[in-house]
Amino acid sequence: MFQPLSRQAEMIHSASLVVLAITAGIFIVVSLLLVYVVWKFRRKGPEDDLKEPPQIYGSTHIELAWTVVPIIIVLVLILVTSRTIGEIQNRKMPPNAVEIRLIGHQWWWEVRYEKEGIVTANELHVPVSQRTGEGMRPTQIFLESADVIHSFWVPQLAGKTDLVPNKKNQTWIEPFAKGTFFGNCAEYCGTQHANMLLRVVVEDPEDYEKWVQTMKQPPAAPQTGLAAQGHKAFFENSCINCHTVDGTIAGGVYGPDLSKLMTRQTIGAGVAPLTPETLRAWVRDPQTLKTGCFMPDMKLLDSEVDAITAYLLTLK
Ligand code: CUA
Repeated sequence: MFQPLSRQAEMIHSASLVVLAITAGIFIVVSLLLVYVVWKFRRKGPEDDLKEPPQIYGSTHIELAWTVVPIIIVLVLILVTSRTIGEIQNRKMPPNAVEIRLIGHQWWWEVRYEKEGIVTANELHVPVSQRTGEGMRPTQIFLESADVIHSFWVPQLAGKTDLVPNKKNQTWIEPFAKGTFFGNCAEYCGTQHANMLLRVVVEDPEDYEKWVQTMKQPPAAPQTGLAAQGHKAFFENSCINCHTVDGTIAGGVYGPDLSKLMTRQTIGAGVAPLTPETLRAWVRDPQTLKTGCFMPDMKLLDSEVDAITAYLLTLK
């Protein structure tokens, strides 16, 4: 959060510097006073043990001062932060804004571009935005939860916003730099809360449009070889109860949409990089990579594991 790269993160950054300056000032004053008092009233010799310290019964002036001054400081902190919160929440989105519906699950992110008809997981792609003028293109994010409370947080792009069951929250990002930015769930949501990671890929508007076009194409069903056997095995086993593959009868919504699986960088919401090896390990037994996740060990035969992995590798 100290290297903000989007409009919202910059706003939060400047508010937090003011808060940090005020609290650092308080810290320094209190520390100096403490050191001074410890030194000034230290035990100077055995004669001090017998002396009774001066007894003071209240002082209206001092008590007023240490009540009123903190109230004023807290008031300033409230005003500084609520102004920033208000500016962020009241931001009007331009008509060209990208819209994403982000749904938190235990323990992954469902990513839906409803207008474009794209569904993916754990990775957002958004266009880079200019600070002013025609090239300004923020992304609005609608946040929902399928089960418990999660929290969206990508420190370099946006502050935290909770995903609450039966409630629709929203936030927005407006990145000024290209690159891949890391986020994570910021509200404890169960066993694999720590492995509920999120990536935001910020790219040139042209590259973003290209990505959208790629994602819209349903994957082709493999016709030959191991992948074709895997395709068959995928539809014969219970994979399709939980997963969707565009253009097929697989329409499960409990687990991540697999239509464009191989366009993603990680598996298991960031638990490992997505490679043929990690994919095979996942199909073999997801519980070894991500203990406690809701995909059980399917007890597949080795031949089925190989074939299904080969099929999944074609989904791009
Ligand atoms: Cu989801 Cu923590």
